[in-house]
Amino acid sequence: MLALTGVTKTYGDGAGRVTALDDVSLHVEAGGFVAVRGPSGSGKSTLLNIIGLLDKPDAGDVSLGGERVVLAGRAEAARLRNRLIGFVFQSFQLLPRLTAWENVALPLFHRGVGRDERRAKALAALDKVGLSDRAAHRPDALSGGQRQRVALARALVGEPALVLADEPTGSLDSVSAAAALNLLRDVNVRLGVTIVMVTHDREAAARCDRTINIRDGRVAGEAA
Ligand SMILES: Nc1ncnc2c1ncn2[C@@H]1O[C@H](COP(=O)(O)OP(=O)(O)OP(=O)(O)O)[C@@H](O)[C@H]1O
Ligand SMILES: [Mg+2]
Repeated sequence: MLALTGVTKTYGDGAGRVTALDDVSLHVEAGGFVAVRGPSGSGKSTLLNIIGLLDKPDAGDVSLGGERVVLAGRAEAARLRNRLIGFVFQSFQLLPRLTAWENVALPLFHRGVGRDERRAKALAALDKVGLSDRAAHRPDALSGGQRQRVALARALVGEPALVLADEPTGSLDSVSAAAALNLLRDVNVRLGVTIVMVTHDREAAARCDRTINIRDGRVAGEAA
């Protein structure tokens, strides 16, 4: 499903040069649910951004579904991302002026789906995360856990093959965190969606099929 070979990424130059990823190779099988753990600054978000085609590596190869994607241009990358990948960011990144369903429908908007269909699919996605009754609320009228569920619905609405989640439970209380994890697991098992989840939380990692540990931009080992 997903393979990285020799991926390297540096930021800045001269004395300020930082090697965020250093020769990273890894493989995630289709339908896998993989945790990525590591200290702050070890390169986890950089890794997710490169897998998600939001950022380009300096060297190395990335392939998604058997297709090499590193050479994709900007427009092609955006198209692939929109078709294949759902993102859940730690900070949710919901647009404050849009309602919950409008936020959820954004990936479909970028695909050129008409309003009625967008709305129907967004409402169905909100229903899956148990938020039908908040569809018309703006993000500032939702709790943290509810915002996270809206972000999750947005990640799932386009039926992606791959969901990338950067500390999806990081800012949630333990009950909301457990609910969000259950939801991800459910999506993984029922729909066969491949999931790569960055997490600091040992318990969250234990719910995954395996854990990839990152240290100083390198894969420091795996645990099943
Ligand atoms: N845009 C950028 N410009 C310069 N340096 C960057 C940039 N983004 C990340 N870095 C550096 O690259 C390294 C890896 O950052 P990254 O965000 O991937 O870490 P992380 O493992 O996600 O950390 P955290 O757990 O704190 O989120 C860090 O040293 C960081 O300072
Ligand atoms: Mg990070």
